[in-house]
Amino acid sequence: MVKWLQEKYNAEIYTFTADLGQEFVDPSRFKMIEEKAYKLGAVKHFIVDCKEMFVKDYVFPTIKANGLYQGIYPLSTAIGRPLIAIEAVKIAKRENINVLAHGCTGKGNDQIRINVTAKAYAPEIEVLQPMIEWNMGRDEEMKYAEQNGIPISSQNKKYSTDENLFGRSVECDILEYPNEIPPEDSREWTISPQKAPDKPEYLVINFKEGIPIGINGDSLKPVELIKKIHDIGCKHGVGRIEHMEDRAIGLKSRETYEVPAALILIKAHKDLEKYVSTKHENSFKTIIDQKWTELVYDGLWVDPLRDDLEAFINELNRKVTGDVTVELFKGNINVVARDSPFGLYDINLATYDTKSSFDQRLSYGFIPIWGLQSRMGFIIKNKSKSLDI
Ligand code: ARG
Repeated sequence: MVKWLQEKYNAEIYTFTADLGQEFVDPSRFKMIEEKAYKLGAVKHFIVDCKEMFVKDYVFPTIKANGLYQGIYPLSTAIGRPLIAIEAVKIAKRENINVLAHGCTGKGNDQIRINVTAKAYAPEIEVLQPMIEWNMGRDEEMKYAEQNGIPISSQNKKYSTDENLFGRSVECDILEYPNEIPPEDSREWTISPQKAPDKPEYLVINFKEGIPIGINGDSLKPVELIKKIHDIGCKHGVGRIEHMEDRAIGLKSRETYEVPAALILIKAHKDLEKYVSTKHENSFKTIIDQKWTELVYDGLWVDPLRDDLEAFINELNRKVTGDVTVELFKGNINVVARDSPFGLYDINLATYDTKSSFDQRLSYGFIPIWGLQSRMGFIIKNKSKSLDI
């Protein structure tokens, strides 16, 4: 893109890389990107450490909203985009830059997420998408890079990937065929479940007001906590996902992910939240969560509805404090125990032992009233039918 923008617009190029924790895979990557930018003639390269901000302001709200798009994808790429757009806008304003160019194609969700956010924060800045303008396919892009001496890593030649602390998205090549099983070389973070340890590992995740604050009683800073859960999850081969996804733009696409930390934390959070909330809160929360998730997936991070939904989510999460025990074993994540001072479970009521304080005789009055309309409806609907015995 740098080369193309220079050639086409004779523009002065400033480049920006947001550190969302993707370097935990390859620490030398940021240096390489910086060198590459200067080699291609960038005036200045900016790299901003956004890890803490990413976890606190994007990952934690996703956990509180149990954010799984279509019940499967934990939004790892989707939540990185508004942050990147906002940070890019900050740099642009500071440096008096009036055009923002990003590398999204015209076929995905990321273009929406970046464009909508950037334009909301800086309506005066023009947003350019070279990928749309040059209209090259991935194969042609590779050729263009080769002709211009632009190095591309072997992994990126095959797959299109996006990585941050919360997950890794992988597309392209054989993955574009939904009837093909994702090959092992499309996975980079997680060990294959077959090769994972033969013994399960138990993790106690400590939550305070809906936010994970520690593991096994040791409190951890936000970024450290995600990294630690990531490492343990990768070791057990958990968080491998493949998904036929409905993009905002209308395309169905085959997506694969490695999202160990995201899945462990969302599963654990959801369990604890359910434990401390009433049946009515739980059923309403799933509606709110789904709305929040779709809004964020569809690129509308800035929509005021997100604030409105979060007001509810945060209020409900005030009581989501406690510990959740998660079992990790050969690709599986199972919540196996939980504890909270706000749990609505009462063993004195629930126990099947004789000591229970629950007065079973009340059922005689409750059931006829509870079932009244349903029984009436059934009888009237089936008046003419007799039981076939
Ligand atoms: N489908 C995912 C999303 O829309 C991931 C997109 C980014 N994937 C990639 N390979 N660059 O959030």
